[in-house]
Amino acid sequence: MDDLLPWQRLTVGSGLLLAAPSVITLDPDELRRQTLSAIAATPEAEKHNFAGAPGGWTAISLLSNPGAYGSGHALRCHPGLDHLPLLERSVLSLSGLVLEGVHILRQPAAGVLAWHYDHQGLHLPLARLLLSVQVPSGAFTWIGHEKHAFPAGTLWTGDFSQPHQVENGTDQDRLMIAVDVTVNDAARALFPAALYAEGARRQYLSQEGINALLAARSG
Ligand SMILES: [Fe+2]
Repeated sequence: MDDLLPWQRLTVGSGLLLAAPSVITLDPDELRRQTLSAIAATPEAEKHNFAGAPGGWTAISLLSNPGAYGSGHALRCHPGLDHLPLLERSVLSLSGLVLEGVHILRQPAAGVLAWHYDHQGLHLPLARLLLSVQVPSGAFTWIGHEKHAFPAGTLWTGDFSQPHQVENGTDQDRLMIAVDVTVNDAARALFPAALYAEGARRQYLSQEGINALLAARSG
């Protein structure tokens, strides 16, 4: 435990479930083929490159929200979406799911998205569901002290209000499809209840983690 960072030590022994797969799995080969086709069909102007950010990554829009999340605006369709009927059929059209945005996230070989936190989790108003498309062996997501890597074709999510870091120490791109949703019964029903249980304790824990992270940054 000595090699854990201060905010990672906080989740040890918390008993909280920090990430889990949903009940949904897709054919991984077909999903990868369709995703690569969607990327190829997307104009460069719609590939939002965050290469300047630590660990550089690219977001490729499939459905984007012209307003703020939660505003109820109709989502804008992007050209790549037509190439992903498997995603549309198996995830996006699920009854009751309220979509706020859908993007392919591409993390390059050797990329590291350093420790940060988001206001996303099934105990919060907004959650980010992730569909694993290409997960090179050795690529993973830290959430607190836990390392997660869900196999291609798995729809999963985590408590991203806790400090987390995404590492791809491999020689291949890592590909995910991020499905941002307003949390409701339909979204929660896809996952084990333990992933959104004890909301207050999760919030206290994440605030402690954020404090530790900010202290380290300023230190
Ligand atoms: Fe994040």
